[in-house]
Amino acid sequence: MEINDKSRVTSYQANSKRYNNMIYKRTGKSGVLLPALSLGLWHNFGFVDNLQNGRDILRTAFDLGITHFDLANNYGPPYGSAEENFGTIFKNDFKSYRDELFIATKAGYDMWPGPYGNFGSRKYLISSIDQSLKRMGLDYVDIFYHHRPDPDTPLEETMGALADIVRQGKALYVGISNYKPNETKEAAKILKDLKVPFILHQARYSILDRWVEDGLLENLEQHGVGCIAFSPLAQGMLTNKYLKGVPKNSRAAKDLTHLNPETVTEHLDKIQHLNIIAKERGQKLSQMAIAWILRQPQVASVLVGASSANQLKDNVKALDNLEFTYQELKLIDDIVA
Ligand SMILES: NC(=O)c1ccc[n+]([C@@H]2O[C@H](COP(=O)([O-])OP(=O)(O)OC[C@H]3O[C@@H](n4cnc5c(N)ncnc54)[C@H](OP(=O)(O)O)[C@@H]3O)[C@@H](O)[C@H]2O)c1
Repeated sequence: MEINDKSRVTSYQANSKRYNNMIYKRTGKSGVLLPALSLGLWHNFGFVDNLQNGRDILRTAFDLGITHFDLANNYGPPYGSAEENFGTIFKNDFKSYRDELFIATKAGYDMWPGPYGNFGSRKYLISSIDQSLKRMGLDYVDIFYHHRPDPDTPLEETMGALADIVRQGKALYVGISNYKPNETKEAAKILKDLKVPFILHQARYSILDRWVEDGLLENLEQHGVGCIAFSPLAQGMLTNKYLKGVPKNSRAAKDLTHLNPETVTEHLDKIQHLNIIAKERGQKLSQMAIAWILRQPQVASVLVGASSANQLKDNVKALDNLEFTYQELKLIDDIVA
């Protein structure tokens, strides 16, 4: 099918065949379909990065049928700059496509100085969504997440703030991130009582980090909530990037806080073995890593990052082979056991 976008007032004409090849999956029991791959703006979209490259990645994503972009108040660096850059690109390229996009932001980690710019108070979340909307130039986000559990704020307060953000029309749906299974269960109960559309849990999940399999996925299914898996490539370790050492411009060489050369070395043996299985499947390691997550019925989308448009194009090819034999799954289990 081809879409005629010629009448749109925009500097960018999206690919008229953008919906032809992407797979869309339902998030839990909601009405929302998400692309099997979504794009995260944690890295590569801050003021420290090249805006044109970010623009290229976002355009490529949408051209490939990736309708979901994931942000957070503190993505950058500096904090807030990924939202601001996204706002600039959105204004120029995507404004007329707003209703084709599902845009997320979050609050929960350190954002501004003093007692009100972190964790889960009502004061923090409501101020933060207002700031995020301003930076992105949006009237509302499609989903607003509490980014991490706050051990000291009553859950009723945090969930109550999410509910009010929806009632104020600043978000259509809500989600939580990094909540453990028991915390998720409690949050789901409160949100259900508040009649708030809680549709997604954003959780780290990859072949190298399988904690969600210990109760969380089951728990989400019971509550009709979908899972969106972040860092599916273990920040790049599950690609062919580190097979022969740590390249200069890679995340492990640049961002030593979240990934460093020592962690890569620690995992190298597993990565090399996994790469052999991927090759036998006729896939790149990154493609196998994405397909492996999509085998879980509770996973609505795999949230990838990319430092170039080509990486994204490469990753979307994961959809060409989503089937795994019992033998392949067993081999993967054995390698990471
Ligand atoms: N809720 C949370 O707490 C939380 C936490 C983390 C992330 N997230 C979300 O999840 C998104 C994705 O996280 P992530 O960036 O860690 O995901 P990821 O997909 O595991 O890692 C992305 C990185 O892997 C490398 N890469 C990707 N495709 C590649 C390819 N085909 N070949 C070689 N290298 C490739 C690139 O790193 P190089 O720079 O080395 O090229 C890229 O920036 C974030 O943007 C954010 O939206 C959420």
